[in-house]
Amino acid sequence: MHLGVCYYPEHWPEERWAEDARLMRETGLTRVRIGEFAWSRIEPEPGRFDWGWLDRAVEVLHEAGLGIIMGTPTATPPKWLVDRMPDMVAIDREGRPRGFGSRRHYCFSHMGYREEAQRITRVVAERYGEHPGVVSWQTDNEYGCHDTVQSFSPAARDAFRRWLANRYGSIEALNEAWGNVFWSMEYRSFDEIDLPNLTVTEANPAHWLAFRRFSSDQVIAFNRGQVEILREHSPGRDITHNAMGFYTGYDHHDLGAEVDVLGWDSYPLGFLEMFCFSEEEKRAYARQGHPDIAAFHHDLYRGCAKDGRWSVLEQQPGPVNWARYNPAPLPGMVKLWTLEAFAHGAEMVSYFRWRQFPKAQEQMHAGLLRPDGNPAPALAEARAVADCIGEIESDAPTPKQAALVFSYESEWITQIQPQGEGRSGLWAAFSAYSAMRELGLDIDILPPGADLAGYRLVVVPCLPIVPDALARSLENIDGQIIIGPRTGSRTTDFAIPENLPPGPLEGMAGGTITLSESLRSGVTIEGDGWSGGGWFDHFEGSADAEMTAKDGRVVLWRKDKARLLAVWPEGSVLCEAVRRAARDAGLPHEPLPEGRRRRRRGNNRFEFDYLTGQASWSTVES
Ligand code: GAL
Repeated sequence: MHLGVCYYPEHWPEERWAEDARLMRETGLTRVRIGEFAWSRIEPEPGRFDWGWLDRAVEVLHEAGLGIIMGTPTATPPKWLVDRMPDMVAIDREGRPRGFGSRRHYCFSHMGYREEAQRITRVVAERYGEHPGVVSWQTDNEYGCHDTVQSFSPAARDAFRRWLANRYGSIEALNEAWGNVFWSMEYRSFDEIDLPNLTVTEANPAHWLAFRRFSSDQVIAFNRGQVEILREHSPGRDITHNAMGFYTGYDHHDLGAEVDVLGWDSYPLGFLEMFCFSEEEKRAYARQGHPDIAAFHHDLYRGCAKDGRWSVLEQQPGPVNWARYNPAPLPGMVKLWTLEAFAHGAEMVSYFRWRQFPKAQEQMHAGLLRPDGNPAPALAEARAVADCIGEIESDAPTPKQAALVFSYESEWITQIQPQGEGRSGLWAAFSAYSAMRELGLDIDILPPGADLAGYRLVVVPCLPIVPDALARSLENIDGQIIIGPRTGSRTTDFAIPENLPPGPLEGMAGGTITLSESLRSGVTIEGDGWSGGGWFDHFEGSADAEMTAKDGRVVLWRKDKARLLAVWPEGSVLCEAVRRAARDAGLPHEPLPEGRRRRRRGNNRFEFDYLTGQASWSTVES
């Protein structure tokens, strides 16, 4: 287990570097991430490289005993490059080019830029690939940040046409799969197909889904171009990338298959403020973050990573600059967040950033040091973690309890066709996760193709496309199952399945959904001690009614080990359904006190109190 920090030597006078490195080590940090935005300093003009400063920075950090995570600087193509190749910029959904003057202004489909990205990756990898101080590489920075995965450029359009031809083989097959006979949308060749933006009203949802899949594939291909170069020039080093919070613009299961360690950037206070938490939650946890935000992503990205290896590449250390309001963490929270990451299996937690930079866009973003170079409050908390992580014994396996099945396609489908405002697959997954975690369960968030053997509870909150393999593995498990709304409701090409939802799960559910309604917020279905709403599925079949509302509507159906939830997975109705399934699975099923959470890693049981910021762990019998 390592602690690290994101450092920008190019922001500070060279005379200070050795002192920074010494202080990092004294704090107990062993990793330092550098370089990911430094293109204009590495190559100030086309083909003219200035390696001197970076060579010296690498030496200083290495000599201090820090392992370096080197970033490829491709998230920030310099001005001269954009001027030479103006059509490399992404085009937004309204058809406007994205300007220079911040970052991430490139189009993933522009082959000229992709070559440039590979060229700069190659020269950096050739220079530092075998350096003993470089322990790993980060490709680019936060693919998709600032809404940058989709580009509506001519380059994207041409690549999309090729992608479609490859996937469908013939234009007739595409027309048939998408149902283009509707509204006379039929095409005669792939070259007639445009991107799905700028249509008069919504484009065909199958067209959007194909574009979402294509855009995701472009990210993976862009990343792969760098990975191949890094593997060649820097053998034996891990490759990583930093994913984001509540972000689904590309398929992270696909990215996880390409890198050695999947990283993510954890900003619990910023995420609480910026995403759809209630006002009450925002007030109660303003300085802690909702107790499930970080944990959800830890478990999600562990499940996306090919060998389950993951890290926190950026950890919030104080106020950020980008949320609507930016409070400081409660004392103790930086330590709690860090320990929570290790409790879920992180290999490293790296704080963003070392020292607050007094200029440019992030001048209000805290670091471990203040702008004047003196310690900010988080430094002492990082040191406190460093002092204790050696005691966490981490080798024993963690027993399997509960799994939650999530796919990126599910979220794309619910974004493309929400049917009711805010009815999102991602948020259904988060709510289900939270309901499970409130019971103290250990949860793995897994893709539909994962092996589910050994789990005693499996929740599929909202998964429109159910692959046959998932149907089979659910049949085979010896545990309780909850299936939520929209699950099995679409084919791969965005059609309603012939046998109606839940499609391949019809046998397990004991019937079908004959009609789905979405309900506006405030329209509730009341039961005995619970209430629900948001959605209502009309079910026909042989399952038993397990939870019935006061007005007679059935919200939870049950057949053997499977329960089908007919309302949106949220609120007290969800908690009650999860509690019943956990009870029948022989798992803990009483809610923990408000703000308390628990997580087992190997033989350690961690306890977290998100109201007070206290974290502790003890050893349990295996
Ligand atoms: C991340 C990004 C960092 C920095 C940070 C600020 O999204 O990767 O470069 O901008 O946010 O919180």
